[in-house]
Amino acid sequence: MAEFVSELKRTHTCGALRGGDVGATVVLMGWVDATRDLGQFRFVTLRDRFGVTQLRFDAHRDADLYADSGRARSEWVLAIQGEVVSRGENANRELATGEVEVLVTRLQVLNRSEVPKFPIRDEVDANEDLRLEYRFLDLRRRPIQSKIVLRAEITHIVRDFLHGEGFLDLETPVLTKSTPEGARDYLVPSRVHPGEFYALPQSPQLFKQLYMISGYDRYFQICRCFRDEDLRADRQPEFTQIDIEMSFIDRDDIYAVCDKLVARIMREVHGVELQLPLPRMSYDEAMARFGVDAPDLRYGLELSDVSDLVAGSSFSVFSDAVAAGGQVKAIVVPGGADLSRKQLDELTEVAKRYGAKGLAWAKGSAEGWTGPVAKFFDADAQRTINERLGAGADDAIVWVADRTPVVAAALGNVRKHLARSRGLIPAGVYKFTWVVDFPLLEFDADQNRWFAMHHPFTSPRNEDIPLLDTDPGAVKARAYDLVLNGHELGGGSIRIHDQDLQSKMFELLGIGAEEAELKFGFLLNALRHGAPPHGGLAFGLDRIVMLLSGAESLRDVIAFPKTASASCLMTRAPSPVDAGQLAELGIRTLKNE
Ligand code: AMO
Ligand code: AMP
Repeated sequence: MAEFVSELKRTHTCGALRGGDVGATVVLMGWVDATRDLGQFRFVTLRDRFGVTQLRFDAHRDADLYADSGRARSEWVLAIQGEVVSRGENANRELATGEVEVLVTRLQVLNRSEVPKFPIRDEVDANEDLRLEYRFLDLRRRPIQSKIVLRAEITHIVRDFLHGEGFLDLETPVLTKSTPEGARDYLVPSRVHPGEFYALPQSPQLFKQLYMISGYDRYFQICRCFRDEDLRADRQPEFTQIDIEMSFIDRDDIYAVCDKLVARIMREVHGVELQLPLPRMSYDEAMARFGVDAPDLRYGLELSDVSDLVAGSSFSVFSDAVAAGGQVKAIVVPGGADLSRKQLDELTEVAKRYGAKGLAWAKGSAEGWTGPVAKFFDADAQRTINERLGAGADDAIVWVADRTPVVAAALGNVRKHLARSRGLIPAGVYKFTWVVDFPLLEFDADQNRWFAMHHPFTSPRNEDIPLLDTDPGAVKARAYDLVLNGHELGGGSIRIHDQDLQSKMFELLGIGAEEAELKFGFLLNALRHGAPPHGGLAFGLDRIVMLLSGAESLRDVIAFPKTASASCLMTRAPSPVDAGQLAELGIRTLKNE
């Protein structure tokens, strides 16, 4: 008799059979999803990533086979041959294959399985640590599987699109030198050069610039990047970028390519037609209206400056902040007159967590404001502020008074909290925006030095170059982010292609000529050998998949992710290594000493 797998090949997947297949002899292989024993009949649902198909074993027809099928347990791997029959009255309309079942004539157990630690169901109550330890089982579950498959589809769309636009898919080294993107490096010790280390790339930034200098106009790569930083739901220590670089271009050219790429993904994944060009807003506008540089545009709750209206008020929290050169900004909470004390306390906690000293509030009413702040504002003053804010008798107003960055951080986060807690975020809505004209530099008061807001290779706007000497903080960069629903999907910039300007940047960042030569000598050298104007951007592939699949965390869209403490619960990485391995590398660890 013909052998399953080697000779008897699968004819269909477990999601393929339909009413039209009745009468066909088929071979299926897959995992046992469930079994149901009805005395003379036994039903086994067989699953693979394409779906499930019901198998029927009939004791009247073949008693041995019927008995044999009784051994099969959850997650055993079976191969069967049989005839497709109609389920007639008993059709299951919820199932793509529900019109038919396969009356089995031959069965082989390809493998057994231990009892899985949690059932392979859409909803499981197993905790995430257990699911991560048994990730190979978790990946069989449809909600995870659909996201991993979506990821592969998006990757395919990206490659296809960029190839069509004339981009070359080029690789860059993984064992390399540190490229500063603002995080700590993962280091790899060298055996051949004891005491020396490679750094895993935080991004291929410098290599893609070198490709441009070498004339490989239009590069892309879907590549792994490594950053040892504090992890959050939308940050993993290793993640994947869609990395893009182009020569002889300006910002508009990058926006145009990326707009088309994003539109293509949205069309093919969600059937949504995006209106192009995608909207653009300056960094200053984003900070002023939303308090963050990655604004969520799915809801209102914008911040409004009322500093001028309250500067002279008797409420010293407000007047003192303005007098000290700060700001007073407000958010109107529509229908917020019903906010409870507890909800207001919660909002105050959010504001304080982001540095505010408190959160002032007033509720509207037919008689004017109520709440602790009300007494400081007479009817006229209340009316003027209400008019500025568009606030009515049913609404509430919340304020933060402080230095500008504190007001932005506190109210920006109060805004997010309000949107979530009051259910103001519409489902199935995708709001993209470019945020452009970022500041080039940001001052770190603790370290008393400037940092590059994007990275040190980002070009200032031409018109701002003279400010580098006089007022570095005011220089705007030719840098941009693409934001979707409050998440930074991608970021990039036009690069510095002039060696003198690049050296000046290093100087401003406190990287002396000697250190610059040591760390980035190869780049400065390359810039001296005919560097074309160039620029690019990188998207976070994981974030794109997370947002388009509605996942809550990057862990759901990465097949083998790390936990918040950067470990892999399945392989138990990172792990100690044996002493011999360390000795060979010339390494002693402090922990063991
Ligand atoms: P940037 O540092 O902004 O730019 O990174 C680009 C995009 O990568 C994603 N991303 C991450 N995703 C998951 N986990 C992380 N830890 C993580 N860090 C970043 C984000 C982000 O927008 N070389 C530049 C790009 C350029 O200038 O061309 C760079 O790496 O979605
Ligand atoms: P206090 O004068 O400290 O009793 O505060 C009166 C109200 O103003 C309280 O609701 C505080 O939460 C709020 N408040 C205090 N400091 C600030 C501030 N910097 N910005 C906004 N509200 C504040």
